[in-house]
Amino acid sequence: MSYKILEGKKGIVFGALDQNSIAWKTAEAIIEAGGEIVLTNAPVALRMGTVNELAEKINAPLISADATSISDLENLIKKSISHFGGKIDFVLHSIGMSVNVRKGKHYTDLNHDWMTKGWDISAVSFHKLMQTLFKMNAMNEWGSIIALTYIAAQRTFPNYNDMADNKAYLESIARSFGYFFGKEKKVRVNTISQSPTLTKAGEGVKGLEGFLKYAEKMSPLGNASAEDCAKYTVMMFSDYSKKVTLQNLFHDGGFSNVGVSQDIIDSLD
Ligand SMILES: NC(=O)c1ccc[n+]([C@@H]2O[C@H](COP(=O)([O-])OP(=O)(O)OC[C@H]3O[C@@H](n4cnc5c(N)ncnc54)[C@H](O)[C@@H]3O)[C@@H](O)[C@H]2O)c1
Repeated sequence: MSYKILEGKKGIVFGALDQNSIAWKTAEAIIEAGGEIVLTNAPVALRMGTVNELAEKINAPLISADATSISDLENLIKKSISHFGGKIDFVLHSIGMSVNVRKGKHYTDLNHDWMTKGWDISAVSFHKLMQTLFKMNAMNEWGSIIALTYIAAQRTFPNYNDMADNKAYLESIARSFGYFFGKEKKVRVNTISQSPTLTKAGEGVKGLEGFLKYAEKMSPLGNASAEDCAKYTVMMFSDYSKKVTLQNLFHDGGFSNVGVSQDIIDSLD
């Protein structure tokens, strides 16, 4: 069942790579809820991924942009405003990449150039995106900006590697920029901290299967799927969440507030 809670709203969705991507499911959920979108991803993702199929299916423009490049972001925002014939109501930042994770470098032996690259893509790009939107005065009042994150920002998960640090930085940027976006433009900024999910980015994390099973057993409601996350994001883009800002919103079936579950205790016997 779908309510058209995004009717008349227009936004940009970053990070749909293939049909497992959280951004892919979110794009579909936004269309179902009556919203309009521009899709974007890095040039390499447009070549390697299948986002073109999604763009055709939902009849949305697809504009290439490396989220670490200010000129790409300016071009994307300019073209989106011209496509919509007006300003933007919502933006999803669904971007993450660690070269150290990809290349299997251990946290105690990081390549710091790779660390800087991953930090730029996974965290600083959120600042670059918001700064560009802010300077171009591209957002409508009562707009909503969301970035996706993971609980490794608060707690240690050994294999999450330098992505944990990137997520901590990302969440801090959401609060710091969210203050100014709220004060000056009446735009809200939040992060959604999602359950582990089987996607391309997720696959890179060593032992993801174990993560998934552990989180499933710990969470009273079980893990949140990409589709669940998409619906939550739709609500966060709608007028039903107008006064929610500067928050890190756990969307994880309750995982974040459980010390230990009986299922886990039983599995240790
Ligand atoms: N999968 C999980 O377990 C999980 C859990 C919590 C949070 N998240 C977060 O959700 C978000 C989406 O990840 P996903 O799991 O859907 O994986 P995904 O691999 O489908 O999406 C990651 C996206 O980042 C894009 N990207 C990489 N470099 C970029 C750049 N320079 N410019 C623009 N885009 C770039 C990729 O092309 C890809 O589309 C990420 O922030 C991820 O950290 C994922």
